[in-house]
Amino acid sequence: MQFKRSDFPEGFLFSAATSSYQIEGHGFGGAGLTHWDTFAATPGNVVRAEHGQVACDHYHRFEEDLDLARDMGLDAYRFSTSWARVMPEGRGTVNAQGLDFYDRLVDAMLERGLKPQATLYHWELPAALADLGGWRNPDISHWLADFATVVMGRIGDRVFSAVPINEPFCVGWLSHFEGHHAPGMRDIRSTAHAMHHVLTGHGRAIQAMRALGMRNLGAVCNFEYAAPADDSPDAAASARLYDGIYNRFFMDGLFKGSYPADVLEGMGPYMPRGWQEDFDLIGQPLDWLGLNYYTRQLVKPNDGAWPCFDFVKGPLPKTQTGWEIYPDGLHHFLSWVHETYTKGLPLFVTENGMANDDLPGRDDMERMAYLDQHLAAARRALEEGVPLQGYTFWSLLDNYEWALGYEKRFGLVHVDFDTLERRPKASYHAIARALET
Ligand code: FCB
Repeated sequence: MQFKRSDFPEGFLFSAATSSYQIEGHGFGGAGLTHWDTFAATPGNVVRAEHGQVACDHYHRFEEDLDLARDMGLDAYRFSTSWARVMPEGRGTVNAQGLDFYDRLVDAMLERGLKPQATLYHWELPAALADLGGWRNPDISHWLADFATVVMGRIGDRVFSAVPINEPFCVGWLSHFEGHHAPGMRDIRSTAHAMHHVLTGHGRAIQAMRALGMRNLGAVCNFEYAAPADDSPDAAASARLYDGIYNRFFMDGLFKGSYPADVLEGMGPYMPRGWQEDFDLIGQPLDWLGLNYYTRQLVKPNDGAWPCFDFVKGPLPKTQTGWEIYPDGLHHFLSWVHETYTKGLPLFVTENGMANDDLPGRDDMERMAYLDQHLAAARRALEEGVPLQGYTFWSLLDNYEWALGYEKRFGLVHVDFDTLERRPKASYHAIARALET
């Protein structure tokens, strides 16, 4: 790989990310059922109906996995806490084994010199809360705040940073409008409610963590570059609206106390009652913002109902998931977010990486090139004055890639899902060398 640690400022944090349901193995330690278990058990939702009951068995192998993170030379490790592992019904009874697990996990990071970067919620909603409407129910902000109090009451004194929710767009739109993720809904009113409640949930969880005296609290949003599929004004308008739904809705909500007018044109009639009153809660002061970035999307108009757009296959080289490789998008979002919204707040790239058809023994040259190009884009933003303080690889391990099952490999470490053997890929070794210099 081309990049070196010395290309980045002193103190710049390199880390790798995972998430609980994608690696832990949910069938252990008294964890409750989640909506990903029931979604996966319903035919047609997930490739081969694969689920997270064993996943990478990280629950039993976390020491080995954190050794790998340390030996790569990382400074930090981004992980998430499973709500249903800690509170099997989502509310009320606490599963002591679950809390103990995160306690041991955080200590194991600290013992290895890895700064724990915690995410409270990375998508596996307890099924009992899904029964109550999940993200459609306004009470979810209180449930999430209670979970924050329980889990951070135990580990909050030792985590380096914390964030309530990974990728509000995926929790809201992808899961309730497109139906690609649990709970697999396709309903505009459910979407409008979920997109708003994910932000009220964020706000209340931040309040709960501040009340515990925690510092270094942020938000993590994902961004996708929206490009018109052709030169027509209609395609430009479609791309603009997609950008509104994906990128501006959550940024405006968090940092401007409003939602974009073009998105409200379609969603306004379906928003929950009194949504305009919630922006003080949503706009809690933050210490940093995390950006997850992978790809761009080409957008063109259609004649259907709002939002009246479709996606077009683009011409750029693609990853194993078919996502176009577009590093300029990362540079764009770092600059745009800094100039338009965060204005000096520290930024972190909290996820970036690619799926590749990796076979043991074959070097993942494609991944090394992808990472180098994106790290160069991040460095360009830094040189232009964007206060970027860290970069996180997605992902440490091959893992459960949600509706795509186990076949799409994002890891720096190969996992054999039959034997659960871990084998560092060429990219892992290249990063280890780059971080030494
Ligand atoms: C992000 C998710 C992460 C993983 C990567 C590929 O949207 O946060 O869990 O699925 O995409």
